[in-house]
Amino acid sequence: MPSTTQSERVDALQFDPLSGAIPGRAPTSRHLADVGASFADEQACSRLLAENPLIYQVTQVEDHDGEGQIHYGIGIIMPGKVGREYFLTKGHLHAWRPAAEVYIGLRGRGMMLLEDEHTGECRAVPLEANSTVYVPGHTAHRTVNVGDEPLVYWGILSSAAGHDYGTVGERNFRKVIVEQDGEPVVLDREEFLRELEA
Ligand SMILES: [Fe+2]
Repeated sequence: MPSTTQSERVDALQFDPLSGAIPGRAPTSRHLADVGASFADEQACSRLLAENPLIYQVTQVEDHDGEGQIHYGIGIIMPGKVGREYFLTKGHLHAWRPAAEVYIGLRGRGMMLLEDEHTGECRAVPLEANSTVYVPGHTAHRTVNVGDEPLVYWGILSSAAGHDYGTVGERNFRKVIVEQDGEPVVLDREEFLRELEA
């Protein structure tokens, strides 16, 4: 089968729901060194940096731009933790704030943190194989793999949405998802930071 390049506009794509790969398309890889500041436990992060594990990959399909068009991308988050906190994406707001997004889980067991930029309310919702998550506009979103296999999912949104990583990077999310007695629990970041200091 002929491979495609990122500049081509294609009507149909194949993808691997196990690996999150799209033949002919190059993924963007994020290792711990790229996303370390997202994790709450700085000491655990420092210890793991020598290994610098792959945290996640995203392959964007942004062939179609302009009014009414759609972008989509497939993500894979590896299983693992930094200290007690599960591997996660950096998270972002959309540059065009009203733009919503739909996530479709393909493989694994995950959660999304959805944080309203106006109220600061932060909630966690499950993202798993054969499930969807609706991310409203004006909502910072981060995906977290709380399972023991890769988490694979699609995200589909307006081509006009754009990504704003800076705002999330400055203040991070108000909640963390950490392992407690073998299960994921959602804690306030401040509460978890106090636990780490104790
Ligand atoms: Fe998004």
